[in-house]
Amino acid sequence: MQLSTASQIPVELRERFATAQRVLVLTGAGISAESGVPTFRGGGNSAVWKGLPFDVISSAQMVKRDLPAVWEWFDYRRDILKNLAPNAAHKAIVRWQRQSRFSEFTLVTQNVDGLHQYAGSTDVIEMHGSIWRARCISCHSTFEILRDDKRQEECASCGEHLRPDVVLFGEILPTGAFERAAEAAAKCELCIVIGTSALVYPAASLPEIAKANGAFLCEINPERTPLSDLCDVVLTGKAGELLDLIEH
Ligand code: OAD
Repeated sequence: MQLSTASQIPVELRERFATAQRVLVLTGAGISAESGVPTFRGGGNSAVWKGLPFDVISSAQMVKRDLPAVWEWFDYRRDILKNLAPNAAHKAIVRWQRQSRFSEFTLVTQNVDGLHQYAGSTDVIEMHGSIWRARCISCHSTFEILRDDKRQEECASCGEHLRPDVVLFGEILPTGAFERAAEAAAKCELCIVIGTSALVYPAASLPEIAKANGAFLCEINPERTPLSDLCDVVLTGKAGELLDLIEH
């Protein structure tokens, strides 16, 4: 059943939302789907770029083997993104943070698209980096990539090649990102998981940590995921339609 009115949101979730002090929101590609960003998985499909599955082109091995091809894939994705805007779901999360209704509000995203920040979210824990940054393969300096500018080819500090500042398959997460997120997950009373297939670890362990520490767990996704059975509430539908309903 697709939910469409506030009265269809389970009362317990609305009560938890109204009374919780510490809240963690974990987002994945699905939150940006209604902005026009293609997801990696879902609907029975997986993304492919020039015949290569996305987990091959987005891999640590590919950076070593063919860095220009990796850039081509990320340039292509940035090119799509620069014309896209945050949707109602990104904006709802900005309100949740700004209204200060919660004493601790943590937003963790697996997305590299920057749409949470574009919408106005601050202090976002980016578990997988950002498509809007480049990083030197040698000295690890990072450089912002501006929406309308051509990206730099070489590191301004040491002249070495730059690569996307994104976590690729076969790589570890940025220092501290998971630790910060896991600490917030262990402390939160309400954990809302939005638009992720919950297949990629360690991000997918955050709701498990929250639940194991007594949090109320809510998933928002048009499809069931491996997390669904662990959840207290599963809202089946689109983030852009459902997030507004929870707070009313
Ligand atoms: P996926 O593409 O794996 O999953 C997207 C999820 O969003 C699916 O479960 C869809 O059903 C759901 N979805 C689609 N439209 C939605 C909507 N309008 N509202 C809510 N949900 C919707 O994306 P992630 O779980 O984020 O890693 O993928 C995890 C990681 O895998 C990504 O961060 C990326 C990829 O490899 C890196 O780039 C390192």
